[in-house]
Amino acid sequence: MSSILLVLLAMLLVAIVPNLALPNTKYPSCNLSMAKLSLPLNQTVLASPTTTPSFVGLGVGVQNYTCNATSLTYSSAGAVVEVFDISCLSATSLFSTIQNYAFDIWNNGSASNVTTQDVIDTLGHDPIVLGQHYFVANGTDPATGSPAISPVWDFTSGAEKGNTEAFVIAAVVGDIPAPTGTDDVDWLQLKNVEGELADTVYRVDTKGGQPPMSCTADAPLLSVKFTTKYWLFGGCIKH
Ligand SMILES: *[C@@H]1O[C@H](CO)[C@@H](O)[C@H](O)[C@H]1NC(C)=O
Ligand SMILES: *[C@@H]1O[C@H](CO)[C@@H](O)[C@H](O)[C@H]1NC(C)=O
Ligand SMILES: *[C@@H]1O[C@H](CO)[C@@H](O)[C@H](O)[C@H]1NC(C)=O
Ligand SMILES: *[C@@H]1O[C@H](CO)[C@@H](O)[C@H](O)[C@H]1NC(C)=O
Ligand SMILES: *[C@@H]1O[C@H](CO)[C@@H](O)[C@H](O)[C@H]1NC(C)=O
Ligand SMILES: *[C@@H]1O[C@H](CO)[C@@H](O)[C@H](O)[C@H]1NC(C)=O
Ligand SMILES: *[C@@H]1O[C@H](CO)[C@@H](O)[C@H](O)[C@H]1NC(C)=O
Repeated sequence: MSSILLVLLAMLLVAIVPNLALPNTKYPSCNLSMAKLSLPLNQTVLASPTTTPSFVGLGVGVQNYTCNATSLTYSSAGAVVEVFDISCLSATSLFSTIQNYAFDIWNNGSASNVTTQDVIDTLGHDPIVLGQHYFVANGTDPATGSPAISPVWDFTSGAEKGNTEAFVIAAVVGDIPAPTGTDDVDWLQLKNVEGELADTVYRVDTKGGQPPMSCTADAPLLSVKFTTKYWLFGGCIKH
């Protein structure tokens, strides 16, 4: 069941990617110079980038949550996301909605036993897996006294295999509610803290991923499926 969903996702991506222009030797990707990140016009929290992106990826994965036993609300406990190259979609009409199609496939199997490794195994390199997004431990959060975590985008086992610097650990500098509604996780701007993959990362065009409003004190870790686009700017690694 889960494999079927992933094959469908792969077929969807392959079907809508137009003929690839291949300036690149590492893997087939398309020129992003015309790709334009669209942000809501009524806000100034997320800054509009002025340069050409280094990478644009489709994220397919889960947001994890644990129950805060005091407030009885879910708190973020990281994410595990597979990131696919969508540079070749950037000039097509499907680019703006690809996250919605992917979400329908990803979410509609209630396939709770699909792992990130299943995604990699099933998709292989067609479409291209840029890499993974997940969280790493970073000491203790002084505000809560609980372990702190930082988001990382890691392409060292994906498209930039062999380059140990092809990652970015980042910190959120801007956060707005998704303009598409309260079921979708926030849109974010993050800045580089470590690594050479990017100076700035955006999470936009989110679909899903929000936890229920409340939880019971003994609730186990909750994983909520979501899809999104990640835009990476700057950094030293160009494909
Ligand atoms: C990408 O497209 C732009 C504008 O069309 C062009 O100036 C640039 O040389 C292209 N880059 C590559 C690597 O082909
Ligand atoms: C911008 O517009 C969206 C969608 O109409 C709305 O949800 C949001 O509250 C607005 N944001 C600001 C800062 O006005
Ligand atoms: C998130 O949940 C998934 C299961 O859905 C699990 O495989 C992963 O280890 C969890 N990650 C974190 C950081 O809790
Ligand atoms: C789930 O998939 C079924 C059949 O594939 C479809 O009829 C249904 O509309 C889908 N539901 C959602 C919520 O996407
Ligand atoms: C997921 O569950 C289904 C049905 O329970 C099973 O057939 C399948 O092998 C499982 N997949 C994995 C990767 O464990
Ligand atoms: C770890 O967290 C501190 C703030 O508590 C921050 O200044 C630092 O940049 C973080 N390091 C990483 C690698 O995210
Ligand atoms: C849990 O919620 C309480 C009350 O809102 C807050 O003070 C505390 O910092 C939260 N704990 C964690 C680990 O987020």
